[in-house]
Amino acid sequence: MIKAAILGYGTVGSGVYSVLESNKRLINERAGQEIEVKYVLDLRDFPDDPVEKVLTHDFEDIINDPEVKIVVEVMGGINPAFDFTRRCLEEGKNVCTSNKELVAEHGLELMKTARENDVNYFFEASCGGGIPIIRALNDCLTADDIDEITGILNGTTNYILTEMTEKGTGFSKVLKSAQELGYAERDPSADIDAFDPARKIAILASIVFGSSVDYKDIYTEGIRKISAEDIKYATTLGYAIKLLATAKRTPDGVMAYVAPFLVDPTHPLFPINGVMNAVYVHGNMLGDAVFTGAGAGSLPTASAVVADVIDAARHDGKRAYCGWRHDEKLALASSGNVKRKYLVRISTEDEGEANKVFSPEGFLDIISLGELEEEVAFITPELTEEDFEARAKGFGKVISRIRFC
Ligand code: HSE
Repeated sequence: MIKAAILGYGTVGSGVYSVLESNKRLINERAGQEIEVKYVLDLRDFPDDPVEKVLTHDFEDIINDPEVKIVVEVMGGINPAFDFTRRCLEEGKNVCTSNKELVAEHGLELMKTARENDVNYFFEASCGGGIPIIRALNDCLTADDIDEITGILNGTTNYILTEMTEKGTGFSKVLKSAQELGYAERDPSADIDAFDPARKIAILASIVFGSSVDYKDIYTEGIRKISAEDIKYATTLGYAIKLLATAKRTPDGVMAYVAPFLVDPTHPLFPINGVMNAVYVHGNMLGDAVFTGAGAGSLPTASAVVADVIDAARHDGKRAYCGWRHDEKLALASSGNVKRKYLVRISTEDEGEANKVFSPEGFLDIISLGELEEEVAFITPELTEEDFEARAKGFGKVISRIRFC
């Protein structure tokens, strides 16, 4: 038997308890031994909840109990999760987490502490919720040199963009209903300003490329400015707007960015709608692979956390391999030289000037939607980011611009 503790009895923590209870027999069989939750740490009381019998308000009960070998950290945030995790690892306890903020900020350091104390720090649920992408990268795609990983890594924004597309509704209205339905936080900034998928792609890129990618170095643009009009142009062209998080190897080095893109129907991430997440991986031997599934929610996230608990039980006294292993930070290449097309919206009266600025050699194809009389859109020729930004700045009258994937 191996004893475990859960730090935090919120959405994910209660899911973890529930998964361990519901699938007890299968889980114990797969772990090769019985897993017993000895403690659940939370500041609150839960009268009439079965967890009450193992509830503690004091972390010291857990850290000082040598019987506890696996700690599930699902508190979220940096403090006190960082301190608790570090202390658990130093005490020789394995830690399994869904805490993407902590992994993105201190993952390497915590893995080092785990290594020094002969235990494991597992974080499958930190990226893509229930999708087993981290285990796939660490344990399955080990024969490949992976040169690109691109994902829809945020369920909230994918839900908002899907609703805007399907219902023709504006961003603010959809955000409000997403908040009412519990799909978006009251403070939605981490999702809609895309810090959340930036952290997730930083974690995945660190595993794929071996060295730490700092999410703060990643160009990050959220979906706050995407309007119902942008979506109308996209659907008229047969495209979908998706918030993509990418890291890829280029001749200039590894490049990473998070931004809304126009995605064509042949792209593997085009059909991913609602709160679903998906991750596209390209390997030099494998070619393409796509992993799709529930990217958030109590039980899907808990499913990934409990898979880590099982792995921790299986690896009792042994170290599991993780591709993110080099101490140095990866210096990301600038995306200024990336060439791509842009969809640009302008006022109808600025069409002539736009032609001169964005296509001096020829004429832009103008897209006009009957219901929007005051404006038109066009697709630029392939331009580098730097070139596009310089022209757009000189022109000064771009209503909106979205990159093609
Ligand atoms: N807010 C996150 C999302 C939760 O919407 O994807 C899962 O990390």
